[in-house]
Amino acid sequence: MAEATAQARYTELSELYSDRAKMAGPGMVGLDPRSIRKVISFSGGYPDATTLPIQDIIEATRVALERDGEWALQYAFGSGIPELVEQLRIKLARDQGIVADVPNILVTNGASQALGLIFEMFVNPGDVILSEAPFFLGTVHYAHANGAVVRELPLDDDGIVIADLERELNALRAQGTRAKFLYLVPNFQNPTGITYSFERRKQIVALAQEHGLPILEDDAYFDLRFEGDKVPTFYELDGTGLVMYCGTFSKILSAGVRLGWVVAAPDIIAHLSGLKTDYGTGAFASSVAAEFAGSGTLLEHVQELKHLYHQRRDVMLDALAEHMPPGTSWTRPTGGFFVWITLPEGVSAADVTPLAQQRGVGVTEGTYFFSGAGGEDKLRLSYSFNTDDEIRQGVQIVGDVVRELAGTR
Ligand SMILES: Cc1ncc(COP(=O)(O)O)c(C=O)c1O
Repeated sequence: MAEATAQARYTELSELYSDRAKMAGPGMVGLDPRSIRKVISFSGGYPDATTLPIQDIIEATRVALERDGEWALQYAFGSGIPELVEQLRIKLARDQGIVADVPNILVTNGASQALGLIFEMFVNPGDVILSEAPFFLGTVHYAHANGAVVRELPLDDDGIVIADLERELNALRAQGTRAKFLYLVPNFQNPTGITYSFERRKQIVALAQEHGLPILEDDAYFDLRFEGDKVPTFYELDGTGLVMYCGTFSKILSAGVRLGWVVAAPDIIAHLSGLKTDYGTGAFASSVAAEFAGSGTLLEHVQELKHLYHQRRDVMLDALAEHMPPGTSWTRPTGGFFVWITLPEGVSAADVTPLAQQRGVGVTEGTYFFSGAGGEDKLRLSYSFNTDDEIRQGVQIVGDVVRELAGTR
């Protein structure tokens, strides 16, 4: 098979590709997703494998198919199967403080699809969007693929810096133009782990309302708070239809079910749905997730996850304190998966990653989280996927590499 492929001759067609395909560039064809297990992997946003609720999902599948198999195995035209939309309405009101009705909700193939559709709906090549920086690398990709001009707004410990947001908005207003939206991850941000304070959220909403600026609120880690009190969502604080709120089952049920959602004003949901070209989000996975959420299993499961990730976070922070050389600093997340490392002066993340990889540890370079330059002295480490012992071992290895490069050994 491989030989036949090697001998095949393919007509050169790339000049016929659309601008969108050229801007997006090639994807990772043939990648074996299981290859991350070959190293201690601090690199992805992978949920812990040992807690995946396999037996509960088998049971939810049985119940869902016995009760509603005829529809669970059909196309699911529309904005989401009614059972899952109802469970989302309940969850959003109970946990997020978001009151949403059927016309406000679109169920998607992961939050990724929701983000991709929002870019398609709002962004023509050359349009300006505003984003926190560093920002989620999936969104960096959608920005490139859609030809967005990203104005990056730096983060401090409480969120994007208000003076920078204000300056950008005033500059756009002076040019007689508007940004299409502001992208942010308010809780346990990917990649830095920071959470926007209540005060900062209110200031951002006030500015957004003054300038008619939509906010794309990507709350992928909302449920995984293991320390401190929850802070109101931008969606709840706004209440005028400026916020598009995205969530996902990936981090709390399974990334493999590929289920996420958007909550927004009805006209936005209707247009996003119009751009969705898959005849509806999978009814099978949706039925299973609806059963999993409706039976109360989801709530119990999230409690376990929070406990686990809290412990993992502590193990990673302790290991960093023990093994990182002077001049290294890092964030202290109160939920989610990620710690953001600033390397000692003169040490480059591009030098750390291959050396760590050779010694069996995967880490992610900070440069992936910017649309232009930035992050050369940063690493993102995820504590979600590995055991406590692996975290200790892995951090020790990364610490050794950084020490060697810093010349402090
Ligand atoms: C901030 C953020 N948004 C969106 C996603 C994508 O989520 P999904 O698996 O639902 O597509 C991720 C996944 O890592 C994420 O970290």
